[in-house]
Amino acid sequence: MPLIAPSILSADFLHLEKDVDFVNKNADIFHLDIMDGVFVPNISFGFPVVEAIASEAKKPMDAHLMIIHPEKYVERFAKTGVGMLSFHYEAAGEYSLSVIKQIKETGMKAGMAINPDIEVEKIFPFLKDLDYVLIMSVFAGYGGQKFIETSYQRIRVVKNEISRLGLDCMIEVDGGVSPANAKKLSEAGADIFVAGSSVFGSSNPENSIRMMR
Ligand code: DX5
Ligand code: ZN
Repeated sequence: MPLIAPSILSADFLHLEKDVDFVNKNADIFHLDIMDGVFVPNISFGFPVVEAIASEAKKPMDAHLMIIHPEKYVERFAKTGVGMLSFHYEAAGEYSLSVIKQIKETGMKAGMAINPDIEVEKIFPFLKDLDYVLIMSVFAGYGGQKFIETSYQRIRVVKNEISRLGLDCMIEVDGGVSPANAKKLSEAGADIFVAGSSVFGSSNPENSIRMMR
């Protein structure tokens, strides 16, 4: 059964406690989108919000860094109690392996995210060191975008390589995930579904999660 990670980016920031409770009761992971206005055009939220969520979260927190120089903030995220931290391959490039090691040294799980226009094979050299891969099924930066259909094949390619190498690396998919594509994503090999608008934008979020499972 896939794990469901609602994206707090689509939550109600005026009543965040309500949505944090919702995730505690109905989902598996808090997905926290961190944007710097440089790596992506948008700016989201930072440490005060992450710390506030951490104070009420009863499920693991997964921070998705869409920022340049992710290495600068690894320690700080570890201190907030985040258990899973991903950064973009495009942001760290040549020094990606050192960022992965830095994340793992803090005790957090290390993930590498990749945008839809980058060949997925680029992350193959890092798979054996990663706890999870975050395959973007929209371009990082905004919630509520349309799912990109080529993502199924990208997930299959990464899943095959993980199986070929006999690794214990999970696949997280992020962007436009909904009850309409969940089954196909699961068949392609996705283990964790990030879902923003299909959960918090739904008139029946519990049902939306149930259908995705
Ligand atoms: C996009 C973020 C996503 C986003 C998903 O840059 O990484 O996590 O919040 O939102 P939906 O599910 O609405 O596409
Ligand atoms: Zn995300």
